[in-house]
Amino acid sequence: MKEDQEQLTDFLQAPDDPANDPLLGLDQESTDSASQIFARRELLKVGTVPEGDRIVGRNEEIKAVANELRHLAMGEPPNHVMIYGKTGTGKSLVSRHVVKRVIDSANARGINAGKVYIECKSKNTETRAARTLTQELNSTVDELLDAGESTIRVPRRGIGAGDYYEYLWEILDEYYDGIIVILDEIDKHNDSDELLHELSRAREADHTDAHIGIVAISNKIQYRGRLNERVKSSMRNKDFIFEPYSASELVNIMEHRRDAFQEGVLTEGVIPKTADLAAQEHGDARKAIDVLRIAGEVAENENAEQILDRHVEEAQTHAEVDRLTDLLKAHPPQAKFVLYSLMKLTNSNDRHAFSTSDVYDRYNLVARDVGVDVLSFDRVYQILKESAFLGVTESQKISGGREGNYLDHTLLRDPDVVLTALLVNEDRLKKLEGDFTPPT
Ligand SMILES: Nc1ncnc2c1ncn2[C@@H]1O[C@H](COP(=O)(O)OP(=O)(O)O)[C@@H](O)[C@H]1O
Ligand SMILES: [Mg+2]
Repeated sequence: MKEDQEQLTDFLQAPDDPANDPLLGLDQESTDSASQIFARRELLKVGTVPEGDRIVGRNEEIKAVANELRHLAMGEPPNHVMIYGKTGTGKSLVSRHVVKRVIDSANARGINAGKVYIECKSKNTETRAARTLTQELNSTVDELLDAGESTIRVPRRGIGAGDYYEYLWEILDEYYDGIIVILDEIDKHNDSDELLHELSRAREADHTDAHIGIVAISNKIQYRGRLNERVKSSMRNKDFIFEPYSASELVNIMEHRRDAFQEGVLTEGVIPKTADLAAQEHGDARKAIDVLRIAGEVAENENAEQILDRHVEEAQTHAEVDRLTDLLKAHPPQAKFVLYSLMKLTNSNDRHAFSTSDVYDRYNLVARDVGVDVLSFDRVYQILKESAFLGVTESQKISGGREGNYLDHTLLRDPDVVLTALLVNEDRLKKLEGDFTPPT
């Protein structure tokens, strides 16, 4: 007991070296060189923008996007670009890489060019986007030739999008010949039409003499159809679609980050297996790299000397649980109880598909056991349809039968994965399950 307590409060002691405080996990980071598994873990971290020579299999796309933007390096107006494609197909990576090359080249040729990357998911209103655009460009003025620091002061708050634009035009006219703006995940922006319209017609409307190039990226192909006509005509952009990666392309991408690991740690089958798993859903390089990193962490936690196929399988499960947990976080508790009911049915039957009535009967028992109100049949039916929409389950219409048409529901994910994700989110289910140990 005493020993336990000592261990529990160990982290409260002042660390020997604050730079490597174990409470903050910094002791592990800094011992990376001592890791048996990783040599450069950061190469596998989300958000790392790798150097150009690690980008593989996107040569055509890189050239094509560069071809639209290259004019800025000669002081001429770049074209606008719109990139579509599923997640993890290299859209952000290629855009950032090409834009950086264009801006660096322009600056080396004596042209005052700048770039801004806007993550539309978080800068999702016109004011937020305009503020970021204005502040970032104002703060990078000192990177321009002979410019020094900007003398323009942009208020941090208290002004709206229109005011920020006024500052933006002033900054552009004072310091810049041209800029390229990356609007990433623009389908998640609330006012994307207004933003695109304002930026794409700024010169025409005589707001500024600077050239503005826009690279807009969307995970949804349908986004183009949603743009209004006014924007479409002022954008006059070129569209590109990035296709998902094949398994062999994913192998290539991972091979180029092999040096994230210590020599000899990756056994032969690991990269191909990771690639196969990622290619089965859609060829998502982010997922592949994630699973590879987690496989390394699993091996590390076991003190293993090498990463084996089974570490990849475990990592895949971990990654699925993480994603599903995220997805379920936004679900109301009742939806979790419905999903739990379908999971229980799946686990205790030979068949996989269950009618709404089957699920409803089971849900009644679950709702009673956890002590919540029992929702109506219709509501449960709605919840099942919503969960199909999220890709957690699948609903299929069965025609005929004694009671006419009905829906059959199938769990699309591994029941253990679903259960683990549900238990993370819902203490009442944890109680029901008692001593369930999650798959590792
Ligand atoms: N062709 C590629 N070569 C090397 N790494 C890639 C490639 N495509 C994607 N990646 C890596 O995969 C992850 C996801 O890529 P990203 O560009 O963010 O995808 P998207 O923006 O299409 O969702 C990033 O870590 C990125 O570095
Ligand atoms: Mg992206």
